[in-house]
Amino acid sequence: MASNVIASQIELHQKTGGVVPEVAARAHLESIVPVIQQALSDAGTDMNAIQGIAVTNRPGLIGALSVGVTAAKALAARLSVPIIGIHHLEAHVLSPLAADAHISMPHLCLLVSGGHTELVHVLGLGRYTIVGQSRDDAAGEAFDKTARLLGFPYPGGKALSDAARSGQPTIRFPQGLEREETLDFSFSGLKTAVKRYIQDNPSFVLADACASIQHAIVAILTRRTIEAALSLGVNTITVAGGVAVNSYLRESLGLAAKREGMKLCSAPLDLCTDNAGMIGLVGSLRLQAGQVDTTSMDCFARAELEEVKPI
Ligand code: KG4
Ligand code: ZN
Repeated sequence: MASNVIASQIELHQKTGGVVPEVAARAHLESIVPVIQQALSDAGTDMNAIQGIAVTNRPGLIGALSVGVTAAKALAARLSVPIIGIHHLEAHVLSPLAADAHISMPHLCLLVSGGHTELVHVLGLGRYTIVGQSRDDAAGEAFDKTARLLGFPYPGGKALSDAARSGQPTIRFPQGLEREETLDFSFSGLKTAVKRYIQDNPSFVLADACASIQHAIVAILTRRTIEAALSLGVNTITVAGGVAVNSYLRESLGLAAKREGMKLCSAPLDLCTDNAGMIGLVGSLRLQAGQVDTTSMDCFARAELEEVKPI
């Protein structure tokens, strides 16, 4: 990958404790040209070397998406190259291919981010079936919301997992739908349990609370992933999305996969949290297959992963 520039808006969103769509869109507008210039300079190339432009056009906040899509259209028109609209989740799901281009198909992907927790049966490139998902909060949201209850600033997931390193998972928090036969998740009960625990135990040990929360989330993610892989009969698992940065999750999945004789392939760390590199990766696959869009391409707030075109 020649370059992968990220303009983080975390500091901006910390002030409001979350993403305000209007604020996010304006920040995209300010960053888009400098980011494109930086990406070209990091890659040691110029515009004329570009053969196609991939851009996230779904799903997401329309204000932010349309900044990227408009810039991509202008560039594509100026350079007379194709434009390729990419589904954000497909890019997360295929990001492990950057670590191993020959991951066997079909396989199972655990996609865990701030907005999504999905178990995706990857039948082939562009062919996906969601076999399990969160019924309420996403895994990243569970990290962030419980981190907030413990006093960490937004988005909190990383800070909570850093604090967990010096603690022990001594508190038994609910993992959600534990006794149900399902491949779905539910993390809203964890948030409530943590809130109650803090109220009932004012002198609690922060590191132990963090380790226990992390354990509850990771244990159920690991268990459901293995159950799904077994029921689908696949022996390769991948993990992707912002929460896949979490080393406790990577270790837990690695150990469980090993026990079952399965192979785990994790997305490279720099392609886990939202980034353009993973969009470019899917863009190049679709470009090679001749699947390009026109400059009348639109962006969409909602779009199903299962409805993308097979590559
Ligand atoms: O994929 P991503 O960058 O954005 C979305 O598409 O949602 O994921 C961001 C999420 C946030 O909830 C963040 O707290 C979480 O990933 N995250 C982590 C860690 N690093 C980022 N969660 C747990 N442990 C981490 N080390
Ligand atoms: Zn994402």
